[in-house]
Amino acid sequence: MKKKVVILREIPKIAEEILSSKFRVDINKSGEVLTREKLYRRVRGASAIISLLTDRIDEEVLHAAGEQLQIVANYAVGYDNINLAACKKAGVIATNTPGQLTESVAEHAMALLLTASRRIIEADKFMREGKYKRWEPLIFYGEPIIGRTVGIIGAGRIGAAFARMCHNGFRMKVLYYDVQPNYQLEREIGAAKKSINYILKNADVVSLHVPLLPSTKHLIGKEELWTMKKGAILINTSRGKVIKEKYLVGALKEKRIFAAGIDVFEHEPKLEPGLISLPNVVLTPHIASATLFARNQMAQMAARNVLMVLMGSKPVNPIESKY
Ligand code: GLV
Ligand code: GLV
Repeated sequence: MKKKVVILREIPKIAEEILSSKFRVDINKSGEVLTREKLYRRVRGASAIISLLTDRIDEEVLHAAGEQLQIVANYAVGYDNINLAACKKAGVIATNTPGQLTESVAEHAMALLLTASRRIIEADKFMREGKYKRWEPLIFYGEPIIGRTVGIIGAGRIGAAFARMCHNGFRMKVLYYDVQPNYQLEREIGAAKKSINYILKNADVVSLHVPLLPSTKHLIGKEELWTMKKGAILINTSRGKVIKEKYLVGALKEKRIFAAGIDVFEHEPKLEPGLISLPNVVLTPHIASATLFARNQMAQMAARNVLMVLMGSKPVNPIESKY
C-alpha cells in the first residue's frame, strides 16, 4: 500500500503534484486549522506530515500519527510550532523551507519600513476620506531613511537580505546583532556587529529577524523600547512573541518611537488591545512570504523533503538550529 502523506491545509498545488504519483496524499481542504481531535485523527497512519505554522506539532501529534511516521515537513522557515525534542525522541525528521522565501520576506520588511516611515496608511486614509483639499506644506511629515542607521537583530539569510536592501538601496549604515558573526555581511556592506543595547540606542530603524526561541521570546520589552531613539522605527517580520506587544502599544501611544511595521503578532491572530487605534503602526496579516514565487518554492521544498525521506534519503532542509 502507498504511504500516506497528510497536508494539514491547502498549499500551492505543486506539492501534491510532486507527491501524488508515489504516495497517498490527504489534504485538509476545509479551509480551517484542524482542531486537536481532528488533527489526531487526520495524521493517524501517516508516514509524512506537511505542517503549517498554525499547527502545533508536539508529542501527542507524533504519537497519534503512529510509529510509521518518518518526517514532519514544515511549510515555513520558522519552526517554533514544532517540538524538535519530541521529534528527535520519536525518530522523526523535521524540515523547514529556508532560502526561497528570503527575498520576499526582506521585501516585505522594506515595504513595512517605507510605509511606516512615510506614513502611507494615514495618508491613504486621508485621501479616501475626501480630506485632500489643496496641497499642504505642513502635513504628513515622515522620517527619511536614506543614509541613516539600520539595526538588524538576527543576521541570518533574511536579516542579511534586508540589510543589503537597506545598504545598497538607501546607503544605510548597518549594525547587526546575532549569536554568530556574519563575516560575509561585514565584508560585503561593512556591517558592524554590536550588542542589542547598542543597536537600540543608535539605530534609526530596528528590524527583527530572529527565530522564536526561549532566548528570543520578549526580546523587545519595555526597557528595550524605551532605549530606542525617539524617531526610530521598529519592523517585525519574524515572530510576534519576540516583542512584548503591550509595551509596543505604550511606546507608540506615547510616541517613544516614531512608528512600527508589524507582520506578526504576539497572540496571533488576536491583536493586543489598543494596537489598531494607533495611527503610527502598519499592520499586515503575516504575509511577508506571500508571493506566488516564494510560496510555490516553499511548497515544492516541503514536498521534496517528504519525497527524499520517504524514499530513504536525507532531506534537503533538515532543521539544524544554530541557537
Ligand atoms: C513564516 O512565518 C515562515 O516562518 O515561513
Ligand atoms: C531565518 O531563518 C533566515 O532565513 O534568516
